[in-house]
Amino acid sequence: MAKSLKEKLNECELIPIAGLINQDSINATSEKVGFVFPVYAWALPKIVYDFIEKIDLSTTKYIFAVTTMGGFSKQYVAPVLVKLLKPKNKELDAAYNIRIFSNNIWGSKRINPLPSKEKGEKRIKKAELKLEKIAEIIRNNQKGKVKEGSIYPMKNSYFSFIKEVNTMDEKYYTDENCNGCGICQKICPVDNIKLVNEKPEWQHKCQMCTGCLHYCPEKAIQWGEYTVGRVRYNHPYIKLKELINQKTKL
Ligand SMILES: Cc1cc2nc3c(=O)[nH]c(=O)nc-3n(C[C@H](O)[C@H](O)[C@H](O)COP(=O)(O)O)c2cc1C
Ligand code: SF4
Ligand code: SF4
Repeated sequence: MAKSLKEKLNECELIPIAGLINQDSINATSEKVGFVFPVYAWALPKIVYDFIEKIDLSTTKYIFAVTTMGGFSKQYVAPVLVKLLKPKNKELDAAYNIRIFSNNIWGSKRINPLPSKEKGEKRIKKAELKLEKIAEIIRNNQKGKVKEGSIYPMKNSYFSFIKEVNTMDEKYYTDENCNGCGICQKICPVDNIKLVNEKPEWQHKCQMCTGCLHYCPEKAIQWGEYTVGRVRYNHPYIKLKELINQKTKL
C-alpha cells in the first residue's frame, strides 16, 4: 500500500520506520508527513506508536495516516493517533483504513488468513480504487475521515498488547524442518532473531509482525499450538528481497 500510495502522490519519499527508530532523535523535514502501517490489536503496532511519540513534527503542516487491516470492523487508529499528536500540538488531517488480507495466524483459528484467489484479486482492486481517492485528498491537503471517538472500549487490550508484544516471541519455536538457511534472521525488521547453531533464537524485542513465521521457506516456525498446519501468508506484491532490505529501502 505504501509503495502504491507513493506512486500516486507527488514528490513522495518512503522512509522505513524500522531504519529510524533507534536514532536518538527523529526530525520530520517535510511539511506533509504520512504514516502508513498495518492495524495491530485494533490500533498501531508498537514500533509505530513509539515512532510517533518520538518524532519531532514541529515544522509539519499536514499529517495523514493510511492503514491496512485484515478485516475486523472495529479499529481505533484515529483516536490513538490523535492522543499521540496532542502533546505536539498537531492535528490528524486525514486518516483512512483499507481492508486487505490478514497475516494474523497466531490468533483465533476462526480467522482465515487468505481469501480465495478470485476474492483476493477483487479485494486488491477495491483497495487500489479506494487508495486512488485517498491520494487525491492528500495531494490537495484536504481534511478527510478522521473518526476521533474514544479508545475506551479497547484501551486495556490495546495497552496490554503494547506492553507484552516484545516478549510474545517466547512462544516461537522451530520444528524439525528448519535447515538453518537464516532467512528468518534476515527478514526480521527489528533484528530480533539470532542464529545459534543454525537455529533461530528470538531476542524478546519482537513486534509480532509474523514475517519470520510466514516467510520461512520450510514452514518450520510455529507460534504456540496455533500455527501448526495453517496456511502461510506471503504478500502478493512484495518480494522476499524487498523485505530483507526493508530497514534501509522501500
Ligand atoms: C499482531 C497482529 C495484530 C493484528 N491485529 C489486527 C486487528 O486488530 N484488526 C485487523 O483488522 N487486522 C489485524 N491484523 C491484520 C493486519 O492488519 C493485516 O495482516 C495487514 O494489514 C496486512 O497488510 P501487510 O500485508 O502489508 O502486512 C493483525 C496482524 C498482526 C500480525
Ligand atoms: S527461515 Fe526457517 S528454515 Fe531458515 S533458519 Fe529460519 S526457521 Fe530455519
Ligand atoms: S520477524 Fe519475527 S521476530 Fe522479527 S519482529 Fe517479526 S515476528 Fe518478531
